[in-house]
Amino acid sequence: MQYRTQPDGSVSITEIEDIFKAHQNRPKAEQIKLVTITGASTITGYKPPIYEIAALAHRYGAKMFADVCQLIQHERVDMHADDHPCHLDFVAFSGHKIYASYEPIPLIIFVLQSLSLLRTENEKSRFSSTFYEKK
Ligand SMILES: Cc1ncc(COP(=O)(O)O)c(C=O)c1O
Repeated sequence: MQYRTQPDGSVSITEIEDIFKAHQNRPKAEQIKLVTITGASTITGYKPPIYEIAALAHRYGAKMFADVCQLIQHERVDMHADDHPCHLDFVAFSGHKIYASYEPIPLIIFVLQSLSLLRTENEKSRFSSTFYEKK
């Protein structure tokens, strides 16, 4: 499902929690498993509270993905350890955003917890060239 931002482009933690609450008692297939959000808006520069949203996601059993393409060159992005409530399970950014070469690493994805979101070998192989497991 897609979350609609406020008219000014910001997000409301309360509204996001309401969405989790509305889904938490649904059949497993309909529960929220992954939250994806941008670390900073290309258009407005708004930075959503990704760590606060991560804590919320984990509280409701979901994982957290942040596209930090527009954030990583401006500030430190800490994924935190698995046992930190605000940890980011996945982040993605283009290598050239941090002056990496275009050729070998068009997209870097750190996988913090596991590849368990990708259920089949086929799904994994589709992404294998872009996944790097976090140590
Ligand atoms: C939020 C976000 N994600 C992903 C990308 C993709 O980056 P690129 O197409 O430059 O690799 C961009 C581009 O600037 C972006 O702003």
